[in-house]
Amino acid sequence: MKAAVIREFGDPDVFRYEDVAELEHRPGELVIKVGACGINRYDLYLRMGAVFTDIAFPHVMGADVAGTVVAVGADVTGWSEGEAAIVAPGYPIDPADWDVRPENHARSFEVTGTHIWGGNAEYIRVPSQFVVRNETGLPVEQVAAMPLVLMTAVHAVDTLGEVRAGSRVLVQAGASGSGNVCIQVAKALGAHVAATVGSPEKIETATAAGAELVINYNERDFADEILGWTDGVGVDAVIDNVGASVFEDNLRALRLGGIFVNFGLVGGIQAKINFRDLFFRRHQLRGSFMGSMEEFKRGLALLGEGKVKAFVDRTYPLSDVAEAHRYIESRAVRGKVVLIP
Ligand SMILES: NC(=O)c1ccc[n+]([C@@H]2O[C@H](COP(=O)([O-])OP(=O)(O)OC[C@H]3O[C@@H](n4cnc5c(N)ncnc54)[C@H](OP(=O)(O)O)[C@@H]3O)[C@@H](O)[C@H]2O)c1
Repeated sequence: MKAAVIREFGDPDVFRYEDVAELEHRPGELVIKVGACGINRYDLYLRMGAVFTDIAFPHVMGADVAGTVVAVGADVTGWSEGEAAIVAPGYPIDPADWDVRPENHARSFEVTGTHIWGGNAEYIRVPSQFVVRNETGLPVEQVAAMPLVLMTAVHAVDTLGEVRAGSRVLVQAGASGSGNVCIQVAKALGAHVAATVGSPEKIETATAAGAELVINYNERDFADEILGWTDGVGVDAVIDNVGASVFEDNLRALRLGGIFVNFGLVGGIQAKINFRDLFFRRHQLRGSFMGSMEEFKRGLALLGEGKVKAFVDRTYPLSDVAEAHRYIESRAVRGKVVLIP
C-alpha cells in the first residue's frame, strides 16, 4: 500500500510517499481503507521528535481516520466488510489497559499513530473496540477532520470545564482546529462564548463557530475585553490550548472560583504561578488530555445532529503531506487540514 512514511525526525521534508508492505489481518482487529485522514498540530510535534523519541522507524502517523472496513479479524463481532467507520483518535495500546475507564487515564493511552502506525496511508489496522460506526452521513473529509478535536473538546469543555447552559466561557485560539470545536461544543451546551484570534481573517471563523465576542489579541488586551464583557466578573471557564504566553491574562479573565482548563502549549510550556492569587481567587486549574470513548461518541452524536460542524480549510492528496504540514506551521490555517490517500 501507499503511505506517507518518516524515517527520521525533522521538518516536513522528512516525509516519503512510498510503497510499504500490506497490513496483515489479525484477530480482534479491523482493517480500514482510509477515506481521509485529518492532521492535528500534534502530528507536527510528533514529526519533529518533540513528543516521543522512541518511535520505531519507518513510521506512519495520523490520528483522525474515517473510511471503510475492508477486513474483519477473527474474534471480531458486530462488524462487516463495507461498513463506514471512524477510528478513535486515541486509545490504550496495551491490551492489559483495555478495561481502564476513562480510557484516557490508562497508562498506555496515546494518540492514534504515535507508536502504532496511523492513518497517513491507504489502510490502517485498529482493535475493533476502538472503531465507531460512521452514522453521520457527512462527506468523509468532514468526518476525518473531527475525531481528535471532538474527543478533546467534549472532555475539556463539558467534563472538565463544567460548562453548562448560561455559562460564560473564554476559548483561546478560536480559529484553531481544536479551539474552533471547543467554541461549538460550548455553544451546543448553551453557553455564551468569547474567543481570541491572532489576525482579522480569523475573526469570521471564530464567529461562524458561535463565538459572541471575538478578540484579536494583537489589537486589544483580551483579559480587559473579557472583564468588560462580563461586567468585571470574569468568565466561568477558560478553555486554553495556548499555554504559557497567555497564562497570567487567562487567570485575570477568570472569575472567582472559575475553572481553567489547559490542553495545549503553542504559546510555550512554562509559566509563573502566583499562589496568593490562586487560593484567594479559588481558581481551579485542570489539565486535559484527549478523552474517553464515551466522550468521543457524544461528540460524534453532536456532529451527526449538526450541532457541531467540521470546518475544513483545505484538503491535500496524501502525497502532498509535507505541503500540508507546512501550511499548518505557517499559522495561516483556519479550522482543519485533511489528507486524502
Ligand atoms: N491535550 C489534548 O488533548 C490536545 C488536543 C488537541 C490539541 N492539543 C494542543 O492544542 C494546541 C493547538 O492544537 P491545534 O491542532 O488546534 O492547532 P492549530 O489548528 O494548528 O492552531 C494553532 C493556533 O494557535 C494560535 N497560536 C497562539 N500562539 C501561538 C504560537 N506562539 N505559535 C503558533 N500558534 C499560536 C494560532 O492562532 P492565532 O493566529 O489565531 O493566534 C494558531 O493558528 C497544540 O498545542 C496541540 O498539541 C491538545
